[in-house]
This record gives sequence, C-alpha cells and structure tokens, in this order.
Amino acid sequence: MNLADICHAVTRLTSDVGQFILAERLSFQSSAIERKGHNDLVSYVDKEAESRLVEQLTELIPDAGFLTEENTKQVQGKSYCWIIDPLDGTTNFIHGIPCFCISIGLHYEGQPVLGVVHELNLNECFYAWKNGGAYLNGKKIRVSEVSVVSDSLIATGFPYHDYNRMKPYMEVFDHLMHHSHGLRRLGSAAADLAYTAAGRFEAFYEYGLNPWDVAAGVVLVQEAGGVVSDFSGTDNHTFGKEIIASNAKIYPEFLEIIQEKFGADR
Ligand code: IPD
Ligand code: CA
Ligand code: CA
Repeated sequence: MNLADICHAVTRLTSDVGQFILAERLSFQSSAIERKGHNDLVSYVDKEAESRLVEQLTELIPDAGFLTEENTKQVQGKSYCWIIDPLDGTTNFIHGIPCFCISIGLHYEGQPVLGVVHELNLNECFYAWKNGGAYLNGKKIRVSEVSVVSDSLIATGFPYHDYNRMKPYMEVFDHLMHHSHGLRRLGSAAADLAYTAAGRFEAFYEYGLNPWDVAAGVVLVQEAGGVVSDFSGTDNHTFGKEIIASNAKIYPEFLEIIQEKFGADR
C-alpha cells in the first residue's frame, strides 16, 4: 500500500469511529468524567475510541509503532509510528460544544508523512500525505494568501496546566488583539491546525502541547503550503511542546512577534 491508499483507509476508519463518538455524545453523563490531572479530563469514550483505532491501524500496517494519548498501545523503535489522539477537544465534548476531532498522524523514520484530522460535528475530514497535497472531504486545500499579520485571524490554545510562560503568552495575545483581525480558541489544537491548512486561520500558536495534539495537523499545514516550527524557528514542533503554524507569507512576521515576546523567557 502507498501513502495515498493508507491515508484513504484512515479516513474511512475515522468516519467509522467518529460515529461511535457522536452516538455517545447524545447520552453522555457527567458521572462518566474522569480526571487524569489538573484540567486534564477523559472518559470511556476517549479510551474506547482509541482502542478501536489502534486495532484497525494495527491491521493496516502490522509492524508499526504507536504513541497514543490514552496509552492503549505504546511501541517505539519501528520505522512507521502512529501518533494518535482519539478525541482532541475532550473538554468541548464533555460540555457539549461542537468542536472535537479524531487526530491521527503517521511518522516514517522520525519524519511526519501522513495526517488525518476529522472534525466530527461538521463531518469535515482533513487529510494529507507527504508530497500528495492536503484535502478536505475530497477537495484540495491551501493555506491563505494573506501577507500581513494585521489582516490575519489567529488561533491559539490557552495554557491550562503549564502556567510558567503566561507572561510572554499574554504579551503575544495582547499584541495580536491590537494588531490582527482577532483571536480564536476552538479548544482543539488539531482543528486549529486543520483550519490553518484550509486558509480559515492565517496562523496558530500554543505551548504545552503533546505530540498527539499536533502530529496530524503538522502534515496538513505543510502539505497545504504553510510553515510549521517551534518558537525558535526550528523543526522541533511535534515533541518540543511549542508550535507555531502559519501560511508562508506571514510566517517571518509572525515568528518575529513570538520571538520578541518569548525570547527572554525560554
Ligand atoms: C487539548 C486540545 C486543546 C489544547 C490542549 C489539549 P485534549 O487536547 O487540543 O485545544 O489547548 O492543550 O490538551 O485534551 O482535548 O485531547
Ligand atoms: Ca489533544
Ligand atoms: Ca485527547
């Protein structure tokens, strides 16, 4: 199977497991909420979705490794590695807010090669594979052509457990409130990246994220013509716990804003 075939198989899988997640949403009770840590919620829905995904992905590439949020299967040291968030936007799911995704990334020899982000409420499946382009429900997507931050809509995620860099974070926030079309907090980093790939947002920044939040979205943005990096401008974005993603035109200006505020604090 080539990457395109694998990618299409993954989209069928996210549609299938997505039906399960949406059905559970209708009868979800707050008594099912569990706490993994401060502001870190989970339920049987995340866990069951992940075990279904892992089972099917194991059939797709039998010798692949896994890095999964809910720890269903952790296998390192393989050429292929699936990086999975079965439900990105758990807090939205629990509160009945309609933005949550299945996020599945694939690395080959440590490099991102495939990403699927399926936002379930609007049934928007964003997918991309290396050198194959990025798509939304079968149509090719591109990052936006906006060339200045002042004409941009910016996505971010609010710090929710690591408050050590609140000062520079709020300074960037303050600057962008004054010098952009505005900021949005969807509650799903995977959706933030997918929307950036589709040209809805010009840029996204957040710190404190895990690999499963961003692995798929990184491929979407890159294949849609955008740029992804950490706050220093290097490619340590998936495991480095800080990420910026934007269209290629505003990237230098956006990176400069981030570096000016976060520079001294890192
Ligand atoms: C969260 C979402 C959110 C981001 C958090 C993540 P979860 O993932 O991506 O947008 O701000 O940092 O942990 O917990 O819903 O899978
Ligand atoms: Ca997540
Ligand atoms: Ca999750």
